[in-house]
Amino acid sequence: MEHRHHGKSSATFLDSDEILAELNLKGDETFLDAGCGDGYISKRAVEKYLPQGKAYAIDAYAESIRELKEYVDENNIQNLIPIEADLTETVQDIGDGSVDVVLMVNVFHGFTDSSQKEDVINELKRITKSDGRIAIMDFKPIENTRGPPLEIRLSHMEVEKTFNRCGLEKDYLNVDIGEENPHGKSHYLIIFKKE
Ligand SMILES: C[S@@+](CC[C@H](N)C(=O)[O-])C[C@H]1O[C@@H](n2cnc3c(N)ncnc32)[C@H](O)[C@@H]1O
Repeated sequence: MEHRHHGKSSATFLDSDEILAELNLKGDETFLDAGCGDGYISKRAVEKYLPQGKAYAIDAYAESIRELKEYVDENNIQNLIPIEADLTETVQDIGDGSVDVVLMVNVFHGFTDSSQKEDVINELKRITKSDGRIAIMDFKPIENTRGPPLEIRLSHMEVEKTFNRCGLEKDYLNVDIGEENPHGKSHYLIIFKKE
């Protein structure tokens, strides 16, 4: 059976500040939360890290984007732009080379097909500016821990190889981030740079 994660959020077990601090944002960037879920990371990004910047929050799940749009309207937030779109296809609302930093948390493992993985990477690469960065954070392949089935999890080495095939090189790696568990921390975060 396909592993599904529509409507899931890591808000209860991952700290958005710990993740966003890894990105060293200056404050005027265009940021993309790719597969944003309930958008808790992009909400925090515009609240604290992007005073002169803006965040796109993309998800394929209509309900999440509808709720995020409601939040944006109710709170009159000008610089958070929710978009319902499938990241394996061209996102019509975002032009080539328009994003400084992409962040994808707990999403990449869901692309189980290798051609799907490459479609997503190529779309993120299209959207990203030259010199821009793409950060992938995902569950380590460790048994008996929260997250997707072990057989679909990817190591940071596997993620790196796939990005390398699409012409993107590693710029930064943190192998110990996320939730504390008996085996160390739950996640890795790997950042690729678009030359
Ligand atoms: C496990 S949730 C993680 C959500 C959020 N990043 C977080 O950490 O709370 C995975 C999200 O990826 C979204 N997603 C899966 N495939 C997608 C695709 N092809 N395009 C856009 N979003 C997708 C799902 O709808 C879901 O909201």
